[in-house]
Amino acid sequence: MKNSTPFLYTANELFDWLSTSPDFVLLDVRNVNDFTNFCVEAPTFFPYINIPYFNFMEDVQGSIDLVPKGQKIRIVCAKEGSAKYVADLLCAHGFTDVGYLQQGIVSWGNVLVPKKVSSDDEKYILYQFVRPGKASCSYMLISKDEAMVFDPSRNIEVYKEMARKHGSRIVRTCETHRQADYISGSPQLALEKGCKMRASRHDFSGATFPYEPVVDGDVCTFTKKGPEVRVMHTPGHTMGSICYLVDNKYLLSGDTAFISTAGRPDLGGRWAEWARELYLTLMLRLRVLPDHTQVLPGHYTSWDEANDKNIFMESLGHLRQNVPAFRLAHENKFAEFIKENMRPQSPVYGEIRQVNIGFLQVNEAEADVMDLGKNECGASNYGKVGVSAELERSELKKVV
Ligand SMILES: [Fe+2]
Repeated sequence: MKNSTPFLYTANELFDWLSTSPDFVLLDVRNVNDFTNFCVEAPTFFPYINIPYFNFMEDVQGSIDLVPKGQKIRIVCAKEGSAKYVADLLCAHGFTDVGYLQQGIVSWGNVLVPKKVSSDDEKYILYQFVRPGKASCSYMLISKDEAMVFDPSRNIEVYKEMARKHGSRIVRTCETHRQADYISGSPQLALEKGCKMRASRHDFSGATFPYEPVVDGDVCTFTKKGPEVRVMHTPGHTMGSICYLVDNKYLLSGDTAFISTAGRPDLGGRWAEWARELYLTLMLRLRVLPDHTQVLPGHYTSWDEANDKNIFMESLGHLRQNVPAFRLAHENKFAEFIKENMRPQSPVYGEIRQVNIGFLQVNEAEADVMDLGKNECGASNYGKVGVSAELERSELKKVV
């Protein structure tokens, strides 16, 4: 019998498959630590197994025996090479439908999935770009032929393509805060599009690239009159954190409020002071907003938080009723909650902060590695980047 040939698939294809009814087994051939600490997460549950690449090298038959027979197999590895190696082995041993991920887990980490948030009767379009590999969300607001982008990741081609598709040009890019968990695409996007980057001076003071500082109450407008975008200073996660209120309806909340928790106030090293600010933000500064305001967060915890359209959006009223961080009796209880949930942050976060203000320059390959892994920005335990990011980085350097 002639052996079949494995095929390459893209990370976007993988997300599409995993969003419906996947009919394959996903085989991750990275080492156990890397698999445990950062894996593929999607809206559905699916058979996902881990047999490290080195096992296939050391014990071919024993490893192949662990792969479910008669199944379609899709393989993930760190970069691509080891997945292809295992895919070839499986095909040589009778598997007939085997794919391997193009450019490995890094490409998964950079996938952006646009979801239309605004309703059809609104005169503007608001997109949420879900980044499944980071569990983060960025946004694009389109009004006539102009577009604003919020908290873009490095994969800026996706935003540019979306703007092109709508016949719009990107006129502004806005940051909610200086990110610690991923490298922002705003400076590069602003440079390429010749537009302004808006951000808080508190977080970006001394930045080596141009930006336009915003303060509480500022309104960013489109030139041809469109929805109002109001700046709300909401310190706590960082002291310069801001939310953008679009059309008095959608709150792009950055890392201030998530669907099941709030942003961590301890990442800056002054947790008690910042926790108090965050408490006041949640209980006082956001109090002016009505319950029906739709919160669009910068991160999510799991796909369970998504609605039936796989959009991460929830009313502020729901958060007030259901999220523990909004329901603590006073600031001391809030501080206790923060303290109980504190955990180490990934060692790479310090470097990412430096990159995001222009103090540290890295090349694309270095940025890919730094940018890998699920975020650790929520004030309750869920992500497991931590020490694993270091392992991931060393592993990526080793594996072809
Ligand atoms: Fe953050």
